[in-house]
This record gives sequence, structure tokens and C-alpha cells, in this order.
Amino acid sequence: MTNDRVIASWSESGYAAQWQQADGMSAMLRLPWAIATTLVGHERAPQRVVDVGSGPGTFLAALLEAYPEARGVWIDASPDMRERAAETLAPYAGRVEYVVGDAAGLSAMEAARDADVVLNSRVAHHFDRPGLEAFYRDAAGLLVPGGWLVTLDHILPPGDWDRRYRDVLPIFAGPHAGKPSHPHYFPFPSMLDHLDALAEAGLTDADLAWRAFYTCLYVARKAA
Ligand SMILES: C[S@@+](CC[C@H](N)C(=O)[O-])C[C@H]1O[C@@H](n2cnc3c(N)ncnc32)[C@H](O)[C@@H]1O
Repeated sequence: MTNDRVIASWSESGYAAQWQQADGMSAMLRLPWAIATTLVGHERAPQRVVDVGSGPGTFLAALLEAYPEARGVWIDASPDMRERAAETLAPYAGRVEYVVGDAAGLSAMEAARDADVVLNSRVAHHFDRPGLEAFYRDAAGLLVPGGWLVTLDHILPPGDWDRRYRDVLPIFAGPHAGKPSHPHYFPFPSMLDHLDALAEAGLTDADLAWRAFYTCLYVARKAA
């Protein structure tokens, strides 16, 4: 799964701040972040939330705000993002553990064990297909029975739809939306690839909970 080129680009000095400043999509993603936050606590408030590739920590902050008893684990390969996240997550200081590391090593990260929720937002498309499968397997292994895996990610739509969506996305999410500024694996997994990979990881209780353009929210529950 490890893609040193991806990690190196996110870790370049100044890139994290530049990316966050240009990130017009985050306003649009507040809705799926809120939907996921509500769904995972609808029956029982989560106690331990792990956010993989958390970046500035905005999604993790939404869960910590909604569930005051919850503790968060922030994971990201970029040391610069750790600094951005410290600002976002300052109101929850004392409830967050930080791990700067590659998601490829997720299964060995002690801090991430026994999670009620494992989140990842806009990260999974940085993995190749075997990497995506390994990531879901590792994440499922960290979850307690009845725990939740949440993926928000960009997918490859069929035919001309990728181009169409990318053409119009700037109208909704600012001039940089849909224009990659760091290395990726192409093509991205399709909408169904994610559900297949989740099922292969044993997470068959899964659904597409929200979609806009080529960005999809998947919510999956581990069997109790
Ligand atoms: C597009 S940003 C998303 C940040 C945040 N989750 C959000 O949606 O606002 C992708 C993040 O994934 C991190 N990342 C990329 N590959 C990674 C890997 N293999 N392990 C851990 N973090 C990774 C990057 O450093 C970056 O912070």
C-alpha cells in the first residue's frame, strides 16, 4: 500500500498549508461529515474514534464535538498536517492522541486498537487496489464488534462522467476543485470497488450513504 511519492508530496514543507487554503471542497463535505457523525452515534455514542489520513482534523473534530465523552486518534503521514490539526483540534486537547505514520502500518498502531469508529476522508484514493483491500482489512481488524468504518472518497465514475463532474465542480467548490495538485493512483476505484473491498474485509453491512459528483460516503458496520 505504501506510496512513498504520495507521502513525500504531502510532507513537503509548506504543502499542507497551501492545500488547506485551496481546499474549496471542505465546505461541501460538511454535509457527509455530519451524516456520518450522526449515523455512527445513532444507537450508542462512540468512545474511541480513529481518523486515518486526518489531515487538518476537520472530520475528527466533528465527532469529538458531537460526542463529548469520545477520545480521538489522529493518524497522518505528514508532519506538517500534524501542526494544522493541532490548531483545529485545540478545543479537544487532552482527548486526542497523534500518530504521524503511514496508513500501511495501521494494524500495528496500538493507539488505534478497539475503535468504535474508523474514519477516512479523501485518503483511500491514494492507495492502489491491493492497498485499498489491505486498508479495509486492517481497519476492520481495529474495530470492536458493532463498530463503524466510514469512508468518504473520490471514485471513478463511468464513461464521460468523470470529465463532466470535474468540469462543473469548480462552480460548487472553488477554482481548484477537481484539479489534482499531488500524485495519485489512476484510475481511482469505482463506486462498487469500495463496496466489494469492504465486503472482502468482512464488512457486508455497508451502504453508500451520500454521493455528490464523484465523491462518495460509505458507512459500514462490523457484525456485533
Ligand atoms: C486530501 S487530504 C484529506 C485530509 C482530511 N481527511 C480531509 O478530508 O479534510 C489527504 C491526507 O491523507 C494523508 N495521507 C496520504 N497518504 C497517506 C498514507 N499512506 N498514510 C497516512 N496518511 C496519508 C495526507 O498526508 C493528507 O493529510
